[in-house]
Amino acid sequence: MEELILLTGFMGAGKSAVAREVAKKLSWKVVDLDELIEAREGRKISTIFESQGEDFFRDREHEALKAALKMTGVVIACGGGVLLRRENRALLKGFALFNLNASFDELYRRVCGTGEVRPLARCDRTELKGLYESRERLYRAVANQIETEGRSPKEVAVEIVERFGARGEAG
Ligand code: S3P
Repeated sequence: MEELILLTGFMGAGKSAVAREVAKKLSWKVVDLDELIEAREGRKISTIFESQGEDFFRDREHEALKAALKMTGVVIACGGGVLLRRENRALLKGFALFNLNASFDELYRRVCGTGEVRPLARCDRTELKGLYESRERLYRAVANQIETEGRSPKEVAVEIVERFGARGEAG
């Protein structure tokens, strides 16, 4: 079994925080796909969006995902839009992918309560809800669903590590 776990979910689902906890438990490393893109491009995600637009970003995201999937002993925190591209969904087949869920209200609080800037979240509630609803189907289609509402990243990480282990035992 590969030593690779991937996390997905909408912005604010807690992918980065949970990835850190999972990696700690397994003594693996964290790869944040957004940070990998920034390192490969030498500029911030927000700058990429501003200067070249979303399609260009999605192409870079696809390449970064391909590179990250060759790594081992890593927990990959994907960006919230990674499932949008069909070719990414195809690449992810067979890997241990966990989708982190929370209610929209909770996601909105987490995304818009921090002041952190994200290109696709201008914190207009209606706009963000529209984006969430347009993607919900993709998140729900992931086989491994993890509830994060009211739970700490540590608690969520315990469940992921247990389920990852069980998957290994099942062969
Ligand atoms: C995006 C989510 C962001 C980042 C980019 C686009 C999205 O990552 O990849 O701004 O489309 O949902 P986080 O989910 O880590 O904020």
